[in-house]
Amino acid sequence: MHHGRAKVAGFLAAASIAAGAAGPARATPAGTAAAAPPVPAVRRAAAATAPLPPGQARSTHAPYAAGDCGACHRSADRASPGPLRHASVNAGCLECHEEMREVMARKLKHAPAVRSCTTCHNPHDGAGPSLLAAPVAELCARCHPGVAAQAAAAPMKHAPVTEGRACASCHDPHAARHEALLIAPAFELCVGCHSKDGMTAADGRTMLNMRRWLEENPVWHEPVRERDCAACHRTHGGDHPRLLVADLPDKLYAPYDRRSYALCFGCHNDRLVSEAETTAFTRFRDGARNLHAVHVNRERGLACRACHDAHASRQERHVRDSVAYGSGGYVLKLGFTRTASGGSCAKACHEAKAYVAR
Ligand code: HEC
Ligand code: HEC
Ligand code: HEC
Ligand code: HEC
Ligand code: HEC
Ligand code: HEC
Ligand code: HEC
Ligand code: HEC
Ligand code: HEC
Repeated sequence: MHHGRAKVAGFLAAASIAAGAAGPARATPAGTAAAAPPVPAVRRAAAATAPLPPGQARSTHAPYAAGDCGACHRSADRASPGPLRHASVNAGCLECHEEMREVMARKLKHAPAVRSCTTCHNPHDGAGPSLLAAPVAELCARCHPGVAAQAAAAPMKHAPVTEGRACASCHDPHAARHEALLIAPAFELCVGCHSKDGMTAADGRTMLNMRRWLEENPVWHEPVRERDCAACHRTHGGDHPRLLVADLPDKLYAPYDRRSYALCFGCHNDRLVSEAETTAFTRFRDGARNLHAVHVNRERGLACRACHDAHASRQERHVRDSVAYGSGGYVLKLGFTRTASGGSCAKACHEAKAYVAR
């Protein structure tokens, strides 16, 4: 796990980034491996390896369906096939499943797969798909109750965690080349799925094609440059809109309260907004008059997203070219130009105005 705040560069960086800020709270490591109960001993797991009573199977193993008990057991007698041919369960599985030998040779191995394939798969038939003892998310939940509880209890859910291949959309339950048993580096996973036009969010909104957005907007926000989506998003599900790790107003306007901007102020110093006069905390000022305070710090304050894009922009300082206004598809152009001594906004929200950050 990396911590997304290595380099702090740029104008007023020291002031703009709160000293010693820990960043917004990340995904809790609750229910991680540390909290997981030990992998059941093979003997205990064997209790779930017997063929299921008729009518309970959702998937059946080809050699078992063919009645070929002798492929794995010492005897081909269906009434009494006896012990296994191989000294270990895995040796038997890997004899036929050559493709899994390559998988299991990867550097990062999932402990229960090393212990025994039958920790999750019934060798005969399964109540879940792929000979699994249960549907994927339910199976993982048995040993990772924290992550599963987070996914189930979160008011904001992330579809791939529970739908389709569920946990296996991102994790390889056997072994992987990437940390946290991911099937690809996290950034590639996120951007790989979020690369289509017209994807809809849980609330029916059409979402950004993130891959294209990042391609078209070269000025990436530092945590995005560090490929650390988890600095701001809770992958498994969370309490805040857009799966954010901390509060952030969801609308264009919001009454100012520093706590409602906990996401940004987990890394940035809130004084860039709270000080009415400053020559240190922001460059968005006219003389000493803090224009961040003017716009944001009021009853009907503008939210950061009205002017900044949290991922990437064409302009410096992640100032947007435009912002969606209302839900009818109207797009408001910002017309911002940064100059050597300050900046200006063309007529859009108000008459054209300029500032000089002396
Ligand atoms: C793909 C391999 C494979 C095939 C084919 C297979 N088995 Fe098994 N069977 C196993 C494994 C693995 C175990 C678990 C043994 C252990 O963990 O020690 C097992 C265990 C069993 C057990 C004991 C279950 C228990 O928990 O005590 C029975 C009964 C059994 N098999 C019956 C059959 C019958 C009948 C057939 C043929 C119709 C068959 N098996 C075909 C792999 C297989
Ligand atoms: C005798 C050869 C043989 C052995 C031994 C064997 N398998 Fe298989 N397994 C197969 C075949 C054949 C298929 C069907 C492949 C297909 O449909 O493409 C299969 C399919 C599977 C599937 C996919 C089932 C599905 O419904 O998608 C899983 C999972 C699996 N095996 C796990 C295991 C495990 C775990 C073991 C060891 C306990 C094991 N296999 C041992 C031959 C074997
Ligand atoms: C921690 C649980 C777990 C263990 C242990 C485990 N598997 Fe799996 N396995 C899964 C899950 C979950 C899937 C379905 C993955 C997916 O949807 O992509 C799967 C899929 C498979 C498949 C592919 C089936 C298909 O439909 O394509 C094979 C083959 C397989 N496992 C073999 C093994 C072998 C061999 C072992 C032991 C070395 C093993 N598994 C150990 C959870 C496990
Ligand atoms: C039988 C118990 C068991 C089951 C079932 C199980 N796991 Fe695990 N898992 C473990 C153990 C034990 C570890 C290793 C803990 C360690 O190394 O500290 C682990 C580690 C992991 C890790 C790596 C954590 C890290 O910080 O690197 C991930 C990710 C994971 N499991 C995901 C899954 C998924 C997804 C499933 C369902 C397909 C699953 N597990 C099913 C017991 C289990
Ligand atoms: C959309 C991709 C995705 C899906 C789906 C997913 N995970 Fe994860 N998971 C991650 C990423 C990325 C990490 C690395 C840490 C982080 O960014 O939160 C992770 C970390 C983990 C870890 C280790 C660290 C921790 O937070 O405890 C476990 C265990 C885990 N996931 C289990 C699961 C289980 C169980 C499911 C299904 C209920 C699941 N994951 C579904 C992406 C995913
Ligand atoms: C397997 C495909 C897949 C992967 C991988 C994936 N996502 Fe998603 N994501 C979706 C889908 C589908 C939705 C829309 C449904 C929903 O909101 O859950 C979504 C929704 C979202 C949302 C918007 C939630 C909302 O309702 O506003 C965010 C934010 C998000 N994903 C971030 C991420 C991050 C960060 C990662 C990488 C850790 C990631 N996604 C990986 C498929 C994926
Ligand atoms: C600095 C914090 C931050 C980082 C890092 C970050 N995001 Fe976001 N993300 C946000 C915010 C804030 C929103 C809500 C945007 C808004 O309200 O305009 C959001 C929204 C989203 C959405 C929903 C977009 C929509 O149109 O509704 C997706 C998908 C998403 N992010 C994916 C990602 C991916 C993938 C990464 C990693 C490449 C990532 N985010 C990194 C802060 C961040
Ligand atoms: C995980 C930490 C983190 C979070 C959360 C975060 N930022 Fe940043 N941000 C940084 C870092 C690091 C930089 C680069 C250092 C700098 O130049 O100040 C940066 C730079 C910026 C810059 C450009 C500053 C410059 O000098 O180029 C803007 C604007 C910005 N962030 C706005 C936001 C907004 C708005 C939010 C909330 C939606 C936010 N940030 C959330 C870490 C974060
Ligand atoms: C009305 C538009 C507007 C709003 C709303 C806004 N900003 Fe800015 N912000 C700017 C402009 C313009 C700059 C560039 C100033 C310059 O470089 O001359 C800037 C610069 C920044 C910087 C770089 C350091 C600095 O202050 O010069 C950070 C960090 C930042 N904004 C964070 C935020 C956060 C966090 C919010 C919400 C709490 C926010 N901004 C709301 C317009 C806005």
